[in-house]
Amino acid sequence: MCGIVGYLGSQSAAPILIKGLHQLEYRGYDSAGIALNCESESSFQLFKAKGKVSNLESIIPDEVKMRDNMPVAGIGHTRWATHGEPSTANAHPHLSMSGEVVLVHNGIIENYKELKDQLIDRGYTFQSQTDTEVLCNLVDLYYQQNGKNLRLAVVQALNKAIGAYAIAVMEQKDNQHIVCARKASPLVIGISEGNDEFFIGSDATPMVEYTHKVIYLDDEQVADVRLGHEVEIVNLDQSLAEFDVKEVDLDITALTKGGFPHFMIKEIFDQPHCLENCMRGRVVRLDDGTYDIKLSALHNFKAKLIRARHVIIVACGTSWHAGLIGKQLIEEMCRIRVEVEYASEFRYRNPVIEKDDVVIAISQSGETADTLAAIQLAKEKGALVFGIVNGVGSSIARAADTGIYIHVGPEIGVASTKAFTGQVTVLTMLALALGHALGTISEEYFQQTCHELTQIPLKMEKVLQQNDAICLLSTPFTFARNFLYLGRGYNYPVALEGALKLKEISYIHAEGYPAAEMKHGPIALVDAEMPIVFLATHHELYQKIISNMQEVQSRKGRIIAVVTEGDQEISKIAQATIEIPATLNALVPLLSVLPMQMLAYHVAVKKGLNVDMPRNLAKSVTVE
Ligand code: F6R
Repeated sequence: MCGIVGYLGSQSAAPILIKGLHQLEYRGYDSAGIALNCESESSFQLFKAKGKVSNLESIIPDEVKMRDNMPVAGIGHTRWATHGEPSTANAHPHLSMSGEVVLVHNGIIENYKELKDQLIDRGYTFQSQTDTEVLCNLVDLYYQQNGKNLRLAVVQALNKAIGAYAIAVMEQKDNQHIVCARKASPLVIGISEGNDEFFIGSDATPMVEYTHKVIYLDDEQVADVRLGHEVEIVNLDQSLAEFDVKEVDLDITALTKGGFPHFMIKEIFDQPHCLENCMRGRVVRLDDGTYDIKLSALHNFKAKLIRARHVIIVACGTSWHAGLIGKQLIEEMCRIRVEVEYASEFRYRNPVIEKDDVVIAISQSGETADTLAAIQLAKEKGALVFGIVNGVGSSIARAADTGIYIHVGPEIGVASTKAFTGQVTVLTMLALALGHALGTISEEYFQQTCHELTQIPLKMEKVLQQNDAICLLSTPFTFARNFLYLGRGYNYPVALEGALKLKEISYIHAEGYPAAEMKHGPIALVDAEMPIVFLATHHELYQKIISNMQEVQSRKGRIIAVVTEGDQEISKIAQATIEIPATLNALVPLLSVLPMQMLAYHVAVKKGLNVDMPRNLAKSVTVE
C-alpha cells in the first residue's frame, strides 16, 4: 500500500529518494516524507508533507538537494493511510522519542494498541496516531536497553509485533547504516556494481536506473545494510539467512509516460505490444504452418494438471474478473469444473480443497495480501498452486509452486488495464494447451483459436483507433450519477470490469450485471438519466441482448453499445455504438474490454480527476 525507498552512498540522497518516491507513488499518495542522516548534521533531517510527493519536493531546500560527495543514509515513504488520517503528523518517517531512531513502514501492526500501552507505561509519548510510531519507539526501547545495537533492536521489536511489515530503519549515531526487514510486504535491496552504494525499495523500479543487482528479502528476514560491507541477513531467531543476489530485468521506458498525458492511457495503448510479449515463444507457429502452445509451467506439472478434477481460481478486483473469464475458458476447453473465489473470502471460510485440486492465483502486483494468504491455505491443504502474475520476483510468484508470468511490463496507472488483457491471454493459452493435452478440444478448434489469438494485437489496434470517437461520445455521460453495464457469457465479466474501471477513476456509481438479470431488479433504475453500456457483440445470445436493449429503450434509458464491426441492427436502438472487429467468442473480452477502459478514462479526464492516482486507492494492496 505504501512505498518505501532508501539510499546509502555518496551521491546527494534527497533527489534519489524523491525520484524513487515518484516512481512508487502509485502505491499510495496521501502524504510523503524523507529522513536524511548526514555526517555534517547532529540530528536527522526530516521533511514531511501532506499529499503528493511533489508537495514534499517543494519543501526541501536546494542546499539539501544538492549536497554531494559525503556518505549519507536516507529513507523515504509515500503513504496510503491505514491508522490515522492523511496528515503531516501521521506521515512517515517516524522519529523515536529519543530522536536516535527513525523508521518507515508499509503494512499494519495489528497489536499496536497493546504495544503502545506498554510503551506509555515506560514513559514514551507519541506525536501521531500511527502504528508505525509505536513500532519505531519499540525499536528505540530495545536499542536503549541493548547498548545501541540497531539490528538486534529491530529483531527484538519484530519478535513482539503481530502483523505485516516492510520497514527501513536508521540510527542517528551511524550515517552509513540502514536496517530493513519484511513480513508479508515486499522489500528489495539494490547493490551498485562497485558495491559502494545501496538502494532500498518496495519494488525494484526506483533502483533499475542505478543497478540491476538486487536481493528480494524473504518474510521474517532482517537485513543489515552498511557502507563498505557485504549485506548481512538474519532471521528473527538471529540465525544467519542465505540469500541470492538476482539480476532484475526492467525496461526503464515502461516507467515513463512516453508522450501520453497519463500512464493509464499509455498502458491502454500499450496492450497490442504487451500481448505480443505475453505470447512470444508461447504461441508458436511451426515450420508446417500449424500452431503449438509451449508453456514450461504446463510441461513441468503436466501430470498433476491433467489429473485435476477441480480448479479454484483466487484473486481480487480486476484480477478476479480475469478469473471469471478463465473459468469459462477452462470449463469450455478442458471440461474441468472451475470455481472463482474472492481471495479475501476464500482464506477465511474453510474451503473444501482436495490434494488433486489446482489453485490458480491471479495477481498483477504479485503482492496482494489476501491472494497471498489464500495461496498459503491452498498449500497447507496440499493443492498445486499455479500463479498468473505480472510482478517478476514478487511474493506470489515466489510462493506459487509454478506459474506463468504475463510479461506486460510494469503497470503504473492505479486502474489495471494491460494486466487484465495479459491475464486473460495467459488463461486462454493455458486452457488451450490443457484442452489440447486432454483431448477435450478438437485439433481444428485448437489451430483456429491459436491463429485467432495471434491476430488479437492487430485487432486491438483497430479498436484503439476509435479513441477520439470514444472521447467525443463520453462528453454527455460525464454528468451521469449512475451507470449500468450489461453483458452475457464471456462479456459478463467485461461488464463487471467496465463498471469497476468507471467507479475507480470517475467516482461515478456503476454496476455490472449479466444482461438477462436486468429484468430481475436493476430495470427499476432505468430512466432517461441512466446510461447503460451493453456489450452486444455477435454470439448465440445476440438476439436476446437486443430484446434487453429494447426493454431499456422503452424506458428511455441512454444506450452505449459495443458491437461487432458492420452491425446494422443495434445502431437503430443505441444512442452511441463502438465497433470491435469480429473474433471468436472466447477471445471477445480481449477486444471488448478496450472500449470499457477508454470510456472510463475519458469520463474521468473530462471530470478533471487524477486518473493515474484515484482517491483512496493504491496499486498494491498489501494489507487485508
Ligand atoms: C482495479 C485494480 C484492483 C486490483 C486488485 C488486485 O483496477 O487494480 O482491483 O485488480 O487490487 O490486485 P493484484 O492484481 O495486484 O493482485
